[in-house]
Amino acid sequence: MDKKFFDYIIHGGDYNPDQWINTPEIWDEDMRLMNLANVNSATVGIFAWSMLEPEEGVYNFEWLDEILDKLHANGKDVILATPSGARPAWLAQKYPEVLRVNENGIRNEYGVRHNHCLTSPVYREKVRKINTLLAERYKNHPAVKMWHISNEYCGECHCELCQEAFRDWLKVHYESLDELNEKWWNGFWSHKMTDWSQINSPKDRGENHVVAMKLAWRRFVSDSHISFYENEIAPLREITPDIPITTNFMRMYDGIDYQDFAKHLDLISWDNYPAWDKGENADEALEAAFVHDTFRSMKDGQPFFLMESTPSIVNWHDVNKIPKPMRQAQSSIQAVAHGADSVQYFQWRKSRGGHEKFHGAVVDHCGHENTRVFREVSKLGADLQKLGGAVGKGYNGKVAIVYDWQNKWAVDVFCGYNNTKRNYLAECLKWYRPFYERGIAVDIIPMDGDFAKYDLVIAPFLYMLKDGTIDRIEGYVRNGGKFVGTYLMGIVDKDDLCYLGGFPAGKLKDVFGLEVEEPDSLPEGMTNTVSCNGKNYTVVDICDILHTTSAQTLGSYKADFYKDTPAVTVNSYGKGKAYYAAFANGGDFMTDFIRDIIADLDLGAPAFEIPDGVSVRKRGDLTFILNFADEERTVTLDKEYTNLITDEKITEITLPTCGYAVVE
Ligand code: GLA
Ligand code: ZN
Repeated sequence: MDKKFFDYIIHGGDYNPDQWINTPEIWDEDMRLMNLANVNSATVGIFAWSMLEPEEGVYNFEWLDEILDKLHANGKDVILATPSGARPAWLAQKYPEVLRVNENGIRNEYGVRHNHCLTSPVYREKVRKINTLLAERYKNHPAVKMWHISNEYCGECHCELCQEAFRDWLKVHYESLDELNEKWWNGFWSHKMTDWSQINSPKDRGENHVVAMKLAWRRFVSDSHISFYENEIAPLREITPDIPITTNFMRMYDGIDYQDFAKHLDLISWDNYPAWDKGENADEALEAAFVHDTFRSMKDGQPFFLMESTPSIVNWHDVNKIPKPMRQAQSSIQAVAHGADSVQYFQWRKSRGGHEKFHGAVVDHCGHENTRVFREVSKLGADLQKLGGAVGKGYNGKVAIVYDWQNKWAVDVFCGYNNTKRNYLAECLKWYRPFYERGIAVDIIPMDGDFAKYDLVIAPFLYMLKDGTIDRIEGYVRNGGKFVGTYLMGIVDKDDLCYLGGFPAGKLKDVFGLEVEEPDSLPEGMTNTVSCNGKNYTVVDICDILHTTSAQTLGSYKADFYKDTPAVTVNSYGKGKAYYAAFANGGDFMTDFIRDIIADLDLGAPAFEIPDGVSVRKRGDLTFILNFADEERTVTLDKEYTNLITDEKITEITLPTCGYAVVE
């Protein structure tokens, strides 16, 4: 879905003039440097609460007035942040309830950031008040173009207010205590609850074995973040209805159901910090691509913002190796290829003190522009100006991979089968790779996404099924869809209750034409083999032993007592086909299998050969070509294109490592 927030790609990042309040000459220098760096935007005010409200009810907006005016005078767009991510000391001192309580019931002292109770009425009221004042003061400021809510919402609180809120949440989500006892299977280990007050948050020293309860807690925490956010934005929606709202997500952070949160945002933004040049860059690029696609898919293909990235290093890796020159630029162009309409940094200028003073920034402690990092940022800014054609262009793939936040929760916590080798994301990445390497766009959707839009849906390790999922898969295949399921599929419902009557759940057995009898787990070093289409694949970690009913067997196990039983199947069901891949493997199987099952589909792959280590992605009329290999690569194109970066006509291009081209 197309959606435009600006007419150009936003290039800027977190800017903290509040840290330089006593050196106003630096503010002016920042303006000069921003112009030199081809930066057109600044995100201001993220952790500025104590500057905005130095004492309770005493406000100081003058500095912000001045900086917004300066930014505007220099033609910069401002993304204005609400300050709730960190609170002033006076606030915590006067209202201790705003501070978080850890799972052992101990209240945190004042300090760090993201250290607030999500339920505290006082904190919610204080946040609402400061947000109201910001909105009223800047509603007509010509520089202010977007709201950045708080910063990287995360974590949880176990205070009494939150415990009570959890119980209230349960009362809404379960009709009665009896129902809850039944759904949580509380007859087990004599866990029947006789009063709501007996339920507390999960913790090591308390309840931590009831998976249904842990799932409920995670849903509650996620909902608490969303309701905290709704409280934050209420005055903004009212006072500045035309200013779009986002909050910055953290990669695949699973403490919040981002797929649910996304519905409440005008646009998605996220903070991307790949570990470049420390290992396999092509793998790092693949994972970043997957995450970009996840966020692009959250609002039906709509462009998103790359709210943060480092222009050089971070300070929180064990060892902060400098990525290769132009790596950051390449990483930024990759984001644009996958749907980003911004390239923003944490941070514009390095702090002089504090925890992040050695984190990369556009402007280093030296304070001038004669640095490699500054030059590269400036060059990238100039390149981004040539990519206006991408702005606002959303897109969807014709293939979807189901990566569901709540399934991730369920997969992570159940006990059984292989408890050591279980990585939902890694499994999804293996299925993503064959498409990524062919330059085919893939959407990453939750299990309640709209399957009908896709020619092919792949749902790796779909262990837990939300209500309605069985019918939706069945309907999709019956109506002509191609669906791939894998081992341990359809085992439990949303409360982690096993489906009775055989796996996968209910009529999925008819859809796939099989029944799984026993999942087998393989200890480290122990393998089996699957032979499929004349090739052998090594089985690791886990595999299902199954019997077919109507499915056709495409591949079988070669060893163990289940030798010659089916491991890969296809079933014709209605107008569609359901494939089942019953075993975990290193990924080589996915490559071959996907090649076979997409042979008759037009999935929009580029019409030229993509060399190893190169990534290609189409966005609107633009084709992005990125070399993540460690050596140069030559790409022979299918026709003549214009290289928008160099403005040359080309039919072939040689890219150095870290090189990129955008052609039309
Ligand atoms: C996060 C935060 C920023 C900063 C960076 C450092 O993304 O949002 O405030 O701490 O990390 O990498
Ligand atoms: Zn709390």
